[in-house]
Amino acid sequence: MEKLIIEGGHPLEGEIAVSGAKNSAVALIPAAVLASSPVTIENLPDISDVEILADLLEEAGAVTTAGEGELTVDPGEMFAMPLPNGKVKKLRASYYMMGAMLGRFKKAVIGLPGGCSLGPRPIDQHIKGFQALGAKVTNEQGAIYLQAEKLTGARIYLDVVSVGATINIMFAAVMAEGKTVIENAAKEPEIIDAATLLSNMGADIKGAGTNVIRIEGVEKLHGCRHAIIPDRIEAGSYMIFAGAAGGDVTIRPVIPLHLESLSSKLREAGLQVDTGDESVRVRRGGPLRPVDIKTLVYPGFATDLQQPITTLLTQAEGTSMITDTIYHARFKHTDELRRMGADIKVDGRSAMVNGPTVLQGARVRATDLRAGAALVAAGLTASGTTEITDIYHIDRGYAALEEKITSLGGVIRREPLTEEEAAEIENA
Ligand code: EPU
Repeated sequence: MEKLIIEGGHPLEGEIAVSGAKNSAVALIPAAVLASSPVTIENLPDISDVEILADLLEEAGAVTTAGEGELTVDPGEMFAMPLPNGKVKKLRASYYMMGAMLGRFKKAVIGLPGGCSLGPRPIDQHIKGFQALGAKVTNEQGAIYLQAEKLTGARIYLDVVSVGATINIMFAAVMAEGKTVIENAAKEPEIIDAATLLSNMGADIKGAGTNVIRIEGVEKLHGCRHAIIPDRIEAGSYMIFAGAAGGDVTIRPVIPLHLESLSSKLREAGLQVDTGDESVRVRRGGPLRPVDIKTLVYPGFATDLQQPITTLLTQAEGTSMITDTIYHARFKHTDELRRMGADIKVDGRSAMVNGPTVLQGARVRATDLRAGAALVAAGLTASGTTEITDIYHIDRGYAALEEKITSLGGVIRREPLTEEEAAEIENA
């Protein structure tokens, strides 16, 4: 077990490179299961979720070869290996193995997914979609059993706009017989990325990125090469780090449109945000103003940036109201920020942040991935030393975090926990 140690109070200056999008990567690796020849995915982030998924595919007979920032998956010899336990429990995105295995083999046994604890995270819409396509779905001892004689295209209306359900239903539908229409589909950029990969593999998909996706089933998909889009959440996190710690940071490559909801809020808060063709520059000149934030589905403000921006708003002069309409209980980071001196009250799905507060370095826990990013922002801003434990959450989503922050002049290092610290955490 390790911890991150951050010496606060150093402004960040310079330029950093953004990795490929985690939430694309974790969908695109399972998508390779659907091909009959090797798929190479480029611009893969160096994060633990990617490693775990590659291992899962290997367990089911795929041959994976890792290269510099890329992974080749040869799914030719794969079989419908039941994956009820073990690695599937380690990440949320293992649910994509359901759609991918069902699409390829017409059957699958996959354990219920793990991932960040953000309150209830049902997968009923995924299941509704699989059933509409003809699969029989049962839940036995913590695993989902899926089986279909054949999959037939269907019209599926999602009751909840869900990124995971939209992508998973696409996976199950690309080789179903006939036409599938997904209505009230999610529109996140990662969905377009997944649809682009599937199209490069020979699938017939129209409308990805809108709320109606039309899929005409094809008999077979083939391998291809595909580069993942830049990670808008990683980029957004660094924009917030720059705003919180102060300084002048350029982030590239980004697709500025993907960052629009964040950029406009940061400008409202008093930061200077300039976008280039594929870069964004964030500068902090004067004091910060409070802003209200409401998370929404894309292109609204991303729930994944709600936690990091909370830290920034502890530095604003006044009261900001943050409401998470996607995950109502995504506020565990606020307990940790309070340990550092933040004045935050949580009431239902909203948090009221009163600023400015001088944050003080403290020992805090990354309770989930983006809570970890919120604490990194806090550590960079605080006076004194912040120690963040449970950083395996952060390693699931932020590639080369210390290297990137160090290159900007931030002071951060990773150390193993002492035996006493490890025991303390285990007993907590
Ligand atoms: N929902 C349902 N039923 C379902 C599916 C979702 O009620 O069958 C609800 C969820 O409980 C939530 C809302 O619908 O309230 C949206 O959930 P969605 O399915 O869109 O989330 P997800 O696909 O499980 C992905 C990202 C999350 C990100 C959300 C929202 C991946 C692997 N995860 O999760 O990313 O917060 O979309 O944008 O793509 C993160 O990166 O830190 C992270 C948690």
